[in-house]
Amino acid sequence: MQKVQITPFRPIYPSPAALITSVDGDGKANIVTLGECFNISIARPVIVGIAIRTATYSHGLIRRQGEFTINLPTADLLEKVDGIGSVSGRDCDKFERFGLTPLPARQVAPPLIAECPLNVECKVLGEQEVGDHQLFLGQVLVEHVDADRLDEAGKPDPRKLDMLIYAANNYFAAGGWLGTHGFTRR
Ligand SMILES: Cc1cc2nc3c(=O)[nH]c(=O)nc-3n(C[C@H](O)[C@H](O)[C@H](O)COP(=O)(O)O)c2cc1C
Repeated sequence: MQKVQITPFRPIYPSPAALITSVDGDGKANIVTLGECFNISIARPVIVGIAIRTATYSHGLIRRQGEFTINLPTADLLEKVDGIGSVSGRDCDKFERFGLTPLPARQVAPPLIAECPLNVECKVLGEQEVGDHQLFLGQVLVEHVDADRLDEAGKPDPRKLDMLIYAANNYFAAGGWLGTHGFTRR
């Protein structure tokens, strides 16, 4: 097949459309949707990365407080995921607006999102400016999973996670295409 050269844009996919929580100085929580959320060191220790623009409200909260949680949504949460990525926590309480339930985390101040079956508590190890995003490295302190999403070995079973997949500005479920980034704004 002939290769065609294109202008690179977010060239690696798919990724999750993950929901990241953070807190302000009074403990009030915010949520942001991020496609740039990835594993880096997978076991010893477990370290993840998130890339977020300084213009977001979440960036300042995570920098100041030094903790965040990553929550992997199911495909049926798609409208909330897209909406959370379309408004700022500077202007509203996203837990209230999108009808999500904060659950206290074990070791960090930002809450988990109860409706997401997989939740990861992270402590910021460092921050680095990388082009148009800030990279936060997060040491994973605790991983939670809904008991009914486990396999016989007690590990998260991806066949039961009903994962939401983000690729080239579009959303997919295991079963196929669901919508385009920003569809809730139209
Ligand atoms: C599917 C999706 C993926 C997104 N990925 C990122 C990302 O990786 N980095 C980023 O800075 N913003 C990303 N955004 C945009 C933020 O979610 C958006 O700017 C949000 O309103 C910021 O909220 P905040 O101001 O409350 O932090 C994404 C939005 C959507 C819908």
